[in-house]
Amino acid sequence: MLGNVMTRRGMLQVGGSAAAAALALAAKPGAALIQSGGAVRATGRPLPDGVALPQTPAGRKRADSVGFAIVGLGGYALNQMLPRFAHAERAHVAALVSGNPEKLRRVGDAYGVPQAARYSYETFARIASDDRIDAVYVVLPSGLHAEWTIRAFDAGKHVLCEKPMALSSADCARMIAAGRRAGRKLMIAYRSHFEPHNREAMALMARNAVGRLRLVRAEQSYRMGPTRPSENWRVSRALAGGGPLEDYGIYGLQAALYLSGEMPESISATAFRPAGDPRFAEIFAHVASQWRFPSGAVAQLVTSYDSAGTNLVHARGTDGALIMDPATGYAGQKMRLEGRDARTISPGDPDVQFAGQLDHFADAIRDGTPIRTPGEMGLRDLRLIEAIYASAASGATVRLAPDGTMRA
Ligand SMILES: NC(=O)c1ccc[n+]([C@@H]2O[C@H](COP(=O)([O-])OP(=O)(O)OC[C@H]3O[C@@H](n4cnc5c(N)ncnc54)[C@H](OP(=O)(O)O)[C@@H]3O)[C@@H](O)[C@H]2O)c1
Repeated sequence: MLGNVMTRRGMLQVGGSAAAAALALAAKPGAALIQSGGAVRATGRPLPDGVALPQTPAGRKRADSVGFAIVGLGGYALNQMLPRFAHAERAHVAALVSGNPEKLRRVGDAYGVPQAARYSYETFARIASDDRIDAVYVVLPSGLHAEWTIRAFDAGKHVLCEKPMALSSADCARMIAAGRRAGRKLMIAYRSHFEPHNREAMALMARNAVGRLRLVRAEQSYRMGPTRPSENWRVSRALAGGGPLEDYGIYGLQAALYLSGEMPESISATAFRPAGDPRFAEIFAHVASQWRFPSGAVAQLVTSYDSAGTNLVHARGTDGALIMDPATGYAGQKMRLEGRDARTISPGDPDVQFAGQLDHFADAIRDGTPIRTPGEMGLRDLRLIEAIYASAASGATVRLAPDGTMRA
């Protein structure tokens, strides 16, 4: 059954009672859109099509290299991160954790991971006594991040957790607390902070290369093929929250923050779910939000799982604009300045972002250097995501404290 919520900006269509309940929850300041954990379990999946496994395992690293246990052998772990460990100077694959024994065997053999360092979700707790493992890299569906991060801390390991950190700010706070209790470090794998174009963009904006910032525009979208929650976690509310915002729009959210150097003081938003489309039975198709910063700059962020692919970020100031298109992918970044100092900017190979974040975390573990993307950053972002959903549900502008929490 369709429920309709009348907002200031028009009709927000909400399909089904679960979504209506979630929106009602989100409308309450401080409430989580999704309560994760409990209902969802880690289970194995088949080896994705087209994965290229190495013919020979990587060579040995320096003596103080940090050993990682990779939890969840899905598309991102297998296609992007596992091969990039070979490029890291101070990080290596020490162990694997998977719910699919056959995949675990094939991937373990390819990466030279000893039998005794291959774990299932059921045997995971035994990593506590495995000294080969310094850190756990959580690459599971987003709704499982909190549970497995806390389990890793309980086993006495440091944690690198994929984005989004979790599906609620309450879970983020639990993860941070677990790390503190264990005396272990937590980093969120926001790879753009290690990518040369985005690093240079941060430096240019800090030097006022476009004058005073006035407008930020971010668009992150792609069109998802036919699917349903039972076959794809990305469209399951329990595992993906509201959908495109947590998964892809979070790159635009991050860019709006690291380019402006400010936190928004207010957010207004809208979200849409079409009726009768199994892809959007549980999640939103599009989420759009408008932010106002204390400086007077504004940001517009849109994200969608149902429109042709784009990944752009524009920052427009009083004297010019910084155009990033594509902005935050695995490769192929393009960036230019318009205005008084117009030029194309190619500061380096985006590929370094993957190994760069691994070495950065290894340095933090071994040398105590500060973490550029700590758990507190993930928590901040979840607060903003909750504010976006709260505004979309109520139709009202949400006012924010400097730490991103919603003002009553
Ligand atoms: N930073 C980035 O650029 C980037 C890009 C893509 C994804 N990610 C993040 O990485 C994480 C994983 O994404 P992905 O694209 O790799 O997903 P995926 O291909 O669907 O893989 C997820 C893996 O998690 C494990 N898993 C455990 N319980 C599961 C369950 N109930 N449902 C589905 N899978 C389950 C499975 O591994 P086993 O079979 O080994 O148990 C599965 O293969 C997400 O948090 C995502 O946001 C980040």
